[in-house]
Amino acid sequence: MPYAKIIGSGGYLPPRIVSNDALAAELATRQIETSDTWIVERTGIRQRHLAEPGVTTSQLATLAAQAALSDAGVKAAELDLIIVATSTPDYVFPSTACLVQDKLGAAGGGAAFDVQAVCSGFVYALATADAFIQAGRARTALVIGAEVFSSILDWSDRKTCVLFGDGAGAVVLRASEEPGIMAAQLNADGSQAKILCAAGNVAHGQVVGDPFLRMDGQAVFKLAVTSLAKSARDVCAQAGVELADVDWLVPHQANVRIINFLGRKLGIPDEKVVVTVDSHANTSAASVPLALDAARRDGRIKAGQTVLMQGVGGGFTWGSVLARM
Ligand code: ACO
Repeated sequence: MPYAKIIGSGGYLPPRIVSNDALAAELATRQIETSDTWIVERTGIRQRHLAEPGVTTSQLATLAAQAALSDAGVKAAELDLIIVATSTPDYVFPSTACLVQDKLGAAGGGAAFDVQAVCSGFVYALATADAFIQAGRARTALVIGAEVFSSILDWSDRKTCVLFGDGAGAVVLRASEEPGIMAAQLNADGSQAKILCAAGNVAHGQVVGDPFLRMDGQAVFKLAVTSLAKSARDVCAQAGVELADVDWLVPHQANVRIINFLGRKLGIPDEKVVVTVDSHANTSAASVPLALDAARRDGRIKAGQTVLMQGVGGGFTWGSVLARM
C-alpha cells in the first residue's frame, strides 16, 4: 500500500495587516472596548491579515495552491484529487474545490470537493486525501485549508472578533513507497455543537438563524486541550512513534495559551512547537497548513523529520496527522 507524502506546501495571506492597536481603535469608534494588552495576554495574538471586501475563499485558496504546486514542481493537470477545507465557502454550491480546480486550469480533472470541519478541516482533509492515496484512488492530491473568516464575524462582539484572521495554506501529496503520512486519527462530538457555531443558513432567499460565529470560549479552551492531548498520544501509538521522537508539533493556531498548555501536557518543549498565531491570529482551516508552510520555508522543518499536525474546532471536531516529511 503506498504512503501519501507531502512534496510541497504553500501559503497566502491577504496583504492588509491589522494590528491589535488598529483594531482596538476601529472598535472604539463604535464604543466597543478592547486593547492590545488584553488580546496579547489572553491569546498571544498581535495582528491578523484581513481580506478586502469581495475577496473570496477560492481566490485565497488558489494563490496558496499555486505556491504549493510550484514548491512541489507539480502541474495542476497532474492533480487527480483536490480537497478544500473551509467554513467560509464562496457559495452554498458548487464547492470551493471545484472553483479552485477551474482557477488552476485543471477543470475536467479528478475529484474535487470540500470538507467542513471548521478549524479541524485541514487535518480532516489531509486524512481523507491520505486514505484516497493509500487505497489507490488518487496519486497526486492537493489539500487546501482556506478561509475568509472575517465574513462570519460579528464585529460588535469583542469576545470573538479579535481572535480571527483570513488566509489559506496548501500541501501537495503524492503516492510514495517511503513514508509519508504514518497515521491519522479523526474525532467528533456532535453533542458539543453549540459551544462553537455559526448557526445560520440561507433558505427561501433569506438568511435564517444567526449567520455569525458564536463561542463559549472557556468550554472550547478546556475541550481543546484535553482532546488534542489524547489525540496526540493515540496517533503516535497507532504509528509506533514515541512522543519524544516527534520533531515538530504543528497545532491549530487558536490561542497561544492552548498551544503552551498542550505542549506542556505532552512534554514537548517550546522549541519543537510551531507558533504563528501571534502574526496570523486564528485562520481556522488555514492555520495548520500556513504554520507548516512557514516552518518548512524558514528551514525549521526538514526532510525526514516527523511532524505532528493537530486540528480542533467547531462540531466539536478534532484530529491528528503524523507525517514523515
Ligand atoms: N477585550 C477586552 N475585554 C474582553 C474582550 C476583549 N476582546 N473579550 C472579553 N473581554 C472581557 C469580558 O467581557 C470579561 O469581562 P467581565 O469579567 O467584566 O465580564 C472578561 O474579559 C473575561 O472574559 P472571558 O470570556 O471570561 O475571558 P477568558 O479569560 O475566557 O478569555 C478567550 C477569552 C481568550 C476567548 C478564552 O476563553 C480562550 O482562549 N478560549 C479558547 C477559545 C479559542 O481560542 N477559540 C478560538 C476559536 S475555536 C478554535 O479555533 C478551536
